[in-house]
Amino acid sequence: MIYIQSIVFLLLAIAGIGLFVRNILRIRRNIFLGKKEDRSDNSSQRWRLMFRIAIGQGKMMVRPVAGFFHIVVYAGFIIINIELVEIFIDGIFRTHRYIGHTFPAPLYNFITGTLDILAFLVLLSVTVFFIRRNSIKVPRLNSKDLLGWPKIDGNLILIIEFLMMTALLSMNAADSALQKIGATPSVGYFPVSNFIFGSLFSTFSAGNLVFIEKSTWWFHYVGVLFFMNYLYFSKHLHILFAFPNTYYANLNKKGQLNNLESVTKEVKLMMDPNADPYAAAPEGTIPEKFGASDVTDLSWVQLLNAYTCTECGRCTSNCPANITGKKLSPRKIMMSVRDRIEEVGKNIDKNGSFVDDGKSLIGEYISAEELWACTSCNACVEACPILINPLSVIMDLRRYLVMEQSAAPQELNMMMTNIENNSAPWQFSQSDRANWTKE
Ligand code: HEM
Ligand code: SF4
Ligand code: SF4
Repeated sequence: MIYIQSIVFLLLAIAGIGLFVRNILRIRRNIFLGKKEDRSDNSSQRWRLMFRIAIGQGKMMVRPVAGFFHIVVYAGFIIINIELVEIFIDGIFRTHRYIGHTFPAPLYNFITGTLDILAFLVLLSVTVFFIRRNSIKVPRLNSKDLLGWPKIDGNLILIIEFLMMTALLSMNAADSALQKIGATPSVGYFPVSNFIFGSLFSTFSAGNLVFIEKSTWWFHYVGVLFFMNYLYFSKHLHILFAFPNTYYANLNKKGQLNNLESVTKEVKLMMDPNADPYAAAPEGTIPEKFGASDVTDLSWVQLLNAYTCTECGRCTSNCPANITGKKLSPRKIMMSVRDRIEEVGKNIDKNGSFVDDGKSLIGEYISAEELWACTSCNACVEACPILINPLSVIMDLRRYLVMEQSAAPQELNMMMTNIENNSAPWQFSQSDRANWTKE
């Protein structure tokens, strides 16, 4: 029997971890369907940024309530996972609290006491998050961007974390009750779980307590494996990707837009009196497309951004276009990029390589109306706590509309024609430009 339990434990671990690795590799493949972009510079600055923004949660406290409870969940989650070491040892070797019998009692009591308190704090925080979403109905978490799966996902993740923490606390309390009646050796310190469940569990028989202890232990273990695999389908992927995403963030000043190399070359050529306008362009210098119409025209950093987005809506709630009733939502832009790259990835999985599905990011997922509503103010970039850049996506899609489709709004087309003909955005000729000085 003991032998079978260890085998079941190991088989579950292999299946759970195997699926998780497969999912991560699939996402990695999808991200690198994006165009090359060199972000290998300034590694020490990048490490500092990651420490400050992701590990140190540097931008989270801008919204103090969400920020505070998030720090509790974040720190609690990471520390509580230390427990997995013991779960693995006990699961494989069918021991009971192996570390407790190996470490000095005061140290083990300190560890278990801390984890017990943290589990309760995480439970409290996810409850606050749930109330914030469903009772207080914070507008940015209840807008139409989140209709359907994103709304369900937001709640589901909180419910899963709630159940896992409840299982952990019940397991500790049942263990403690068994220790009190001498059914198991006394080990560990569980102040909060005893406080919550202690008096209730003291009325239970040893058999019932063993059942609770064992079933909650298995529930917690299977829950961790399920949670790992659920990440792929969820905005919760951020718990892994927030770290690389902040590391590879844009280090340039926010207002600095990247010029297209091919266009810069073209302009330089126009300005060079010695250049031969009929000379053929050197091989490889003409891009297959200006700007981006689909996800594979975006860079891998932009696709990583999309997978990292927490759908928190801080960008959208700061977007002047959105606030003044325009169709644009930078959060929805990032969600659309993720939905489309997932669709492209599934297409590749099914067909071996991408088979044209007649769709693209512009049109099917993001409309020109949304793109032209953007004022390029950078408020979304400034607001994002994980350094995502929705504006860069908007700009690349607009570039496609302008340079490949000549589909800019009429006002812009007029301005660009004026620049082309008059070297100024106004509608009068260069020779009249100094007329005002005559008055
Ligand atoms: C590693 C463990 C982490 C856990 C367990 C975790 C957990 C959570 C949970 C449960 C939520 C949902 C809150 C809600 O429903 O409103 C959330 C949201 C969020 N997380 Fe994390 N997170 C982790 C890491 C990170 C990191 C490293 C960052 C980077 C700064 C981050 C940034 C965010 C943001 C921006 C939100 C949206 C918060 C809002 O609504 O304003 N998380 N996280
Ligand atoms: S840059 Fe565009 S999308 Fe971002 S906040 Fe400003 S108007 Fe909104
Ligand atoms: S882009 Fe950033 S601010 Fe906007 S929803 Fe995603 S994580 Fe939040």
